[in-house]
Amino acid sequence: MFNLSENACIGVIGAGAMGTGITQIAAQNGHKVCLVDASAPALEKSQTLLKTTFYKLAEKGKISPENAEKAIQAIRFTTALEDLYSADLVIEAIVENLAIKKEIFSRLAAIVKPEAILATNTSSLSVTSIASSVKNAERVLGLHFFNPPPLMPLVEVVPGLASADSTVQSILALMKKWGKKPVLAKDTPAFIVNRLARPFYGEAIRMMEEGIADCATIDWAMKTFGQFKMGPFELMDYIGHDVNYVVTETVFAAFFYDPRYRPSFSQKRLLEAGRLGKKSGHGFYNYGAAMPEPQKDEVLGRIIMERIVAMLINEAAEALLLGVASASDLDLAMKAGVNYPKGLLEWANEWGAHNVYTVLKGLQETYGDDRYRPSALLRQKALQNERF
Ligand code: NAI
Repeated sequence: MFNLSENACIGVIGAGAMGTGITQIAAQNGHKVCLVDASAPALEKSQTLLKTTFYKLAEKGKISPENAEKAIQAIRFTTALEDLYSADLVIEAIVENLAIKKEIFSRLAAIVKPEAILATNTSSLSVTSIASSVKNAERVLGLHFFNPPPLMPLVEVVPGLASADSTVQSILALMKKWGKKPVLAKDTPAFIVNRLARPFYGEAIRMMEEGIADCATIDWAMKTFGQFKMGPFELMDYIGHDVNYVVTETVFAAFFYDPRYRPSFSQKRLLEAGRLGKKSGHGFYNYGAAMPEPQKDEVLGRIIMERIVAMLINEAAEALLLGVASASDLDLAMKAGVNYPKGLLEWANEWGAHNVYTVLKGLQETYGDDRYRPSALLRQKALQNERF
């Protein structure tokens, strides 16, 4: 039986962007935190950042100066994994590499108490595989925060094959206490958000490659008619093609090369050219020049939006069919994790499953490509005129 008390001691491994953010949340919620990183400079950087953040929060009146000081004092920074011996929960946020993560989990299991819960913040690796390096795998699970962790409300809670129900329930309760919106996701490639969002990028690039519209027009269409905060090309440039392309390629391989997730040559070339997006000054857009003007044609704009949204809904329907998550968690994940204007199944109900199905059937017929095959669940909802 795994349980976490109010004053549970939290261990975090990895003092990068994610580990630092997770440490901030835990300390702000009154926990003692032990932050471990193999690199002393990384720990120093994280310490400076956390201090600055807590003082800023106090200045803005978001927390009291006493609580800011208390939170700073509650964090221990160390390079020794052994210092996690008293932790009740350890959240690992080191480099995204299966062999390295397995090695750290196996070392960790020998250090912590047998009742300590061990979580990984992996965004793409198999939780079950990481857990297999620990004898007592009932206490291991995935706990996927979004960047930046203190600001993004969504957390994907991912039980591995061996995770105990009490492990999962105590983490769900803790996340709610921390003010997060946890969703439960099956241990399948890319969990919920990173899987469901693939067509937002992939289908936009496909239309651009075919010459249906340019980047600026597709971005305009998605913002104007889809109410998305950012268009797909702006967003890919913002995320960086070194991250976004690599995720697409990883997901494609993880799904045994299903054409639904096929990466694109256009994005691969950007990566090869070092045009990583905003951070390098050039991606799909050139940030050193004037931004191109969209072609504001409403008919074209709606066709673009409907094609991408139909593909997104299809992905959500397939995930529901395969039990990746409940309908409400699938919808919550996209709203709280990537700021979608609506949940995708909610959107399907509004638009009508039959209309979504018609768009996909049309694309499948036009291209003869399995990429556009409608999910059996979407087909059923369309033919029986049912809601999700
Ligand atoms: P990062 O590169 O900013 O930080 C990783 C830290 O781990 C570094 O400070 C490094 O020194 C340390 N480290 C590496 N190997 C170690 C080891 N064996 N022992 C101790 N420390 C070690 O990485 P970031 O972006 O914080 O990502 C961490 C994890 O979170 C990865 O698994 C990533 O996939 C996942 N993630 C990242 C998101 C993001 O947007 N950056 C979003 C959600 C999950």
